[in-house]
Amino acid sequence: MSIILHYLILLRVKALREIGVQLGKKDWNFNVDPCINESSWLTPKLNSRPLYNNSLFCNCAYPDSVCHVVGLFLLGQDLDGVLPRALVKLPYLKSLHLTRNYLSGNIPHEWASTRLEFLSISMNNLSGPLPSFLGNITTLTFLGIENNLFSGMVPLDLGKLVNLKNLILSANNFSGEFPVTLTNLTKLMELRISSNNFTGRMPDFFRSWKQLQKLEIQASGFEGPIPPSISILSNLTELRISDLVGEGSKFPNLSSMTLMNRLMLRSCNITGSIPSYISDMKRIQILDLSFNRLEGSVPDLSGLEMLQFMYLTRNLLNGPIPDWIKDSGNRLQLDLSYNSFSESYDPACRDAFKNLFKSSSGRDNLILGECLKNVPCSEDQYSMYINCGGSATTIGNITYEADNDVGGSAKFFHENENWGFSSTGHFWDVDTSRYDYIADNVSILTMNESELYTRARLSPLSFTYYARCLAKGTYKVKLHFAEIVIRDNRSFYSLGRRIFDIYVQEKLVWKDFDIESSARGVDKAVVKEHKANVIDNVLMIRFYWAGKGTTAAPKRGTYGPLISAISVEPDFSHDGKKKISIMVLVGAVVMVLLLIFMILGIVWWKGCLGGRSSRENELRGLDLQTGFFTYRQIKVATNNFSAANKIGEGGFGSVYKGILLDGTVIAVKQLSPKSKQGSREFVNEIGMVSGLQHPNLVRLYGCCIEGKTLLLIYEYMENNSLAHTLFGPADGRLKLDWSARQKICVGIARGLTFLHEESTLKVVHRDIKATNVLLDRDLNPKISDFGLAKLNEEENTHISTKIAGTIGYMAPEYALRGYLTDKADVFSFGIVALEIVAGKNNMKYQPNENFVCLLDKAIVLQQKGNLMELVDPELGSKFSKEEVLRMIKVALLCTNPSPAPRPTMTAVVSMLEGGTVVDELNIDLSIYGNNGWRFEVLRNQLVQSPQPSSMESQSLAQSSNATWMGSSTSA
Ligand SMILES: *[C@@H]1O[C@H](CO)[C@@H](O)[C@H](O)[C@H]1NC(C)=O
Ligand SMILES: *[C@@H]1O[C@H](CO)[C@@H](O)[C@H](O)[C@H]1NC(C)=O
Ligand SMILES: *[C@@H]1O[C@H](CO)[C@@H](O)[C@H](O)[C@H]1NC(C)=O
Repeated sequence: MSIILHYLILLRVKALREIGVQLGKKDWNFNVDPCINESSWLTPKLNSRPLYNNSLFCNCAYPDSVCHVVGLFLLGQDLDGVLPRALVKLPYLKSLHLTRNYLSGNIPHEWASTRLEFLSISMNNLSGPLPSFLGNITTLTFLGIENNLFSGMVPLDLGKLVNLKNLILSANNFSGEFPVTLTNLTKLMELRISSNNFTGRMPDFFRSWKQLQKLEIQASGFEGPIPPSISILSNLTELRISDLVGEGSKFPNLSSMTLMNRLMLRSCNITGSIPSYISDMKRIQILDLSFNRLEGSVPDLSGLEMLQFMYLTRNLLNGPIPDWIKDSGNRLQLDLSYNSFSESYDPACRDAFKNLFKSSSGRDNLILGECLKNVPCSEDQYSMYINCGGSATTIGNITYEADNDVGGSAKFFHENENWGFSSTGHFWDVDTSRYDYIADNVSILTMNESELYTRARLSPLSFTYYARCLAKGTYKVKLHFAEIVIRDNRSFYSLGRRIFDIYVQEKLVWKDFDIESSARGVDKAVVKEHKANVIDNVLMIRFYWAGKGTTAAPKRGTYGPLISAISVEPDFSHDGKKKISIMVLVGAVVMVLLLIFMILGIVWWKGCLGGRSSRENELRGLDLQTGFFTYRQIKVATNNFSAANKIGEGGFGSVYKGILLDGTVIAVKQLSPKSKQGSREFVNEIGMVSGLQHPNLVRLYGCCIEGKTLLLIYEYMENNSLAHTLFGPADGRLKLDWSARQKICVGIARGLTFLHEESTLKVVHRDIKATNVLLDRDLNPKISDFGLAKLNEEENTHISTKIAGTIGYMAPEYALRGYLTDKADVFSFGIVALEIVAGKNNMKYQPNENFVCLLDKAIVLQQKGNLMELVDPELGSKFSKEEVLRMIKVALLCTNPSPAPRPTMTAVVSMLEGGTVVDELNIDLSIYGNNGWRFEVLRNQLVQSPQPSSMESQSLAQSSNATWMGSSTSA
């Protein structure tokens, strides 16, 4: 029996290995059982939208008593292989989630015989026609293929998937008519088919789809009108139809849809008035009826208490602006721009949540509304230069004005005399409280005038820049673009397609504009030029997202127009023109040439002096998966290690910020020759880190040797360390809200899970602490400093002769006896989790007679049943009590004085995410009867370390000033 069992398990591992090879997955570790029991199953929900996941779920309850693989979740890993044929070797597989990778090719026909229920291959690079045999997988209830390059007709056989509840085909290139066979999908609850190239009328299948709750048809290619049968869908909570072409109609009858939560009928050519039954949609939060031809007045929607966003932009609404709107305050963000109301009202001019740009038809404010009526232009202007989304920048003799207002979903910005903007729309499907109207470059730009491109204005729907004091005449309008968010590497970061329309003086000038293809690549500038006539002093440039392209790659909410800078110059001569004397010009050219020769000379001279030591051979011996850099490259990147580029002082040397010539931002960790820390550790670090890649580990790009100095080149992290953010000086530090803290805690746990359980090497970090967790621009945590890590070899006795760690974070068995297992990291993680909740440093927690440190306080509070007292007051009341309690309890489990009862990091992730219940029985408080034990541990740590107090103060000094990479302390 056991031989058969063993054989079956071997077969499973063999199948998984084969699947791994086909997917291009290189870090699967089969030395440990990769199975997670199905009991901790997290039902894949579209709403949770995880970016990264690496789980294999098994069910061991089958009669043959073998654990069968039932779920495979590999998300956000940039796997660049193909969809695995070998999948059929896992006959019990029910769920396959391969979202956000870089898989190419098509679906293999072998899959026709699988019994999959959940299949998501969204956000990949798959192409070709969608195969008919998909219709054979009749067990499917969820099919998601969003954001690929599938083309051709949707196969008729998809109608055989009668169990389908969710069908998501958005952001592909499907064409032809929508097959009538899909009327057989009577269980459908969610259908999303946006951004395709379908033809014909919008399908009139609603009588068969009565169960639908979510329907999204944005820019799908269909012609209007919306079929009247839509009125039958009384279960709808989300309806999004936009950018229909062709014929319009009156407002469809939606009166039965009282459960509606988000309603968008945008740019559907709807005429007539807004129906009053909308006031019965008591749960509605977002109402977008923009870009139609609606007339009449706005019905009284004051009873809709959950309504947050309302867009009536660009209709023909008239009459007075109702009082309920004037009284709605900040609760409702309301865009009334581009309408024909008979009045404008004054307070709105200062209201950040109401946009009344061009909202009224009054004689005086036909152009710009009441707000600017009394602000006459002081003189005629002949040009306008704006650094969109950025700060004031001078290039040559031209100064681009700053444009760094945060923007908003319904914002009329008119603080400058000569220009302003109207901003409409928010990004759907992302946290609506975020302000995302300015994009930052994700890598350093090297094009000419790069200052114009590093930050850019973003618009989720419609954005108008206006100039209002221009002299009459023809102007050259130059629009500067560069794609600074989407990438072009072999990664899901390159899967985005940003497509939008540009209007100048309300004339469509560029349709389906795509920056990346127009500039032939990312991070490259492209300038579009158009001549425009100005008659009434006003010039308007509008950017509009017509629903095309992708919306979820690399992240949800990546879409919409992106504009870097605008310049407007007269196409006629006028007196104000300055003349530059030829002499000055020639002089300048000569100076520049001289300077260039000097710089070239210096670079060449310095380059000849670059020496290398024998350590290079030592390094060459390692199997580096990263590159070697020349010292010259690094010197150029860091501006010759200038003080301005220094971002921190680690335990063994300085850390510098640098920019490589290809624009990559890097952090350079320098091991100074004086450092006591030997090169052995250093080499150890490079060899190990170079092989490890995970979204929650700081990425090592390579290394460089110069004389006795060794340099490590890492990815740069914008937001410094967790310690800096949590305990740094209050002014100027980021405030972390609860959701950020939860994300950070889970991220650290994931990174450690990878180190302990998933990576090909098994690694104990040994020095997990808040200063060794760095935060990227999106506050994703990444674990740094593997300088102390050692291979966790099986034959190792686990007794380390050399203790290396930081006081306050070290597990007792390691601090006292040098006994090292991955459970030592679990302990340190527990301390960090407590610090995240409390916003306080474990050791700096005002010690008093009752507790020595934060952990002691947590234990005391747990005994008193008053854990909430631990929560950082900075959070106010804005946190999830359930999550907070869960995190503290997990932390207490992790800090169990004995290593064995501490959970594994996989279990920690699952508990933190609410997938498994925290087993409170293992929180062992009896041992802490008094504080003697803990004092003992602390004393022992102090004895072991030569200069404990100075080390701790050094560590804190660093945290106040960019603790970059490695405040590691060695014993
Ligand atoms: C799908 O099912 C049909 C009929 O059940 C069968 O003839 C066909 O071979 C199957 N396709 C594949 C690719 O297995
Ligand atoms: C729907 O399914 C039935 C049988 O299940 C079949 O007879 C019919 O042809 C199908 N309809 C369409 C439009 O494919
Ligand atoms: C969409 O289909 C039309 C023909 O129906 C074709 O002319 C057009 O090029 C297609 N667009 C894309 C982006 O493939």
